[in-house]
Amino acid sequence: MKDYFGYAGKICVVTGAASGMGRAACEMLLELGAKVYAMDVAEITLPVERSIQTNIADRESIDQAFAQIPDVIDCFFGIAGVSGVKTDFKTTCMINFIGHKYMTEQYVLPRMKKGGAIAFMGSRGGKGWRTTIEEYRAIVEAADWEASVACLDEAAAKAEQKGYGDMAGLKGYYFSKRMMNFYVKYMTQRLALQGIRINIICPGATQTQLTAEWESVMSHDQMKGKSKLRFAQPEEMAMPIVFMNSNMASYISGIDLAVDFGQKGSEDYATPLLPADPIL
Ligand SMILES: NC(=O)c1ccc[n+]([C@@H]2O[C@H](COP(=O)([O-])OP(=O)(O)OC[C@H]3O[C@@H](n4cnc5c(N)ncnc54)[C@H](O)[C@@H]3O)[C@@H](O)[C@H]2O)c1
Repeated sequence: MKDYFGYAGKICVVTGAASGMGRAACEMLLELGAKVYAMDVAEITLPVERSIQTNIADRESIDQAFAQIPDVIDCFFGIAGVSGVKTDFKTTCMINFIGHKYMTEQYVLPRMKKGGAIAFMGSRGGKGWRTTIEEYRAIVEAADWEASVACLDEAAAKAEQKGYGDMAGLKGYYFSKRMMNFYVKYMTQRLALQGIRINIICPGATQTQLTAEWESVMSHDQMKGKSKLRFAQPEEMAMPIVFMNSNMASYISGIDLAVDFGQKGSEDYATPLLPADPIL
């Protein structure tokens, strides 16, 4: 059978590989013949090329990880993330966004050739990014780690001033996912000129460790939104992200793909111009 996905022998770097969607994506990539370099702060129990314990909120840890990854990277999957239930605003943004931005710019792009592909796991929680860009433009456009963190510190101080109490981490979650959506759009044109694709998957509620954490601060119905559908399984998010970085999607870039069984589609129909609540 023809290898339509084209992963055989490709170097794929995956963050968040220990559990949930990241683990499911690694399992598929292994089946498709990729050489998987898997990163996570937790132990990874899959037969990958190399599993690297990494804290993606920590620059040194990322630097040490990429010292163990080949000089050529074909595909990057930025999947790791936290719910914001157990972490504060800044830490949530460091893990969900700053670490991924740093990896992309410092290591992935310099090692990626024409034909390379990058895909992030965003969230339905990132909706509203279009009307809140000025809250995080400086972080997204920052030139390096120090500048990103300095801009994030300013944003975190503003968030604190506004007084989010127990919800600070959750606000950080929405903020980080909005940033990631904007980041993909911001990078699309320049990467197109290099022949590199970049996309983001925006999942609805999916049965993983994260939904278990959100259960302590919101109901199942709130997580599911108006559709009241079942939760997705992690594989149902792994499939679209594996597709996005594959040869099957060779002409797709700059897309934020809602994978939520129609929730975004229904909202676009019902309230096409609804502005998002500002976080800062
Ligand atoms: N589960 C959902 O309903 C849902 C919905 C929308 C988006 N998402 C996104 O999906 C992605 C995957 O999450 P999941 O739902 O599979 O949950 P998960 O908890 O099963 O997976 C997240 C992984 O990220 C890892 N991680 C956390 N902090 C890290 C750090 N500092 N350094 C390195 N790795 C770290 C965890 O150890 C874990 O293996 C996340 O980015 C999340 O925001 C999840």
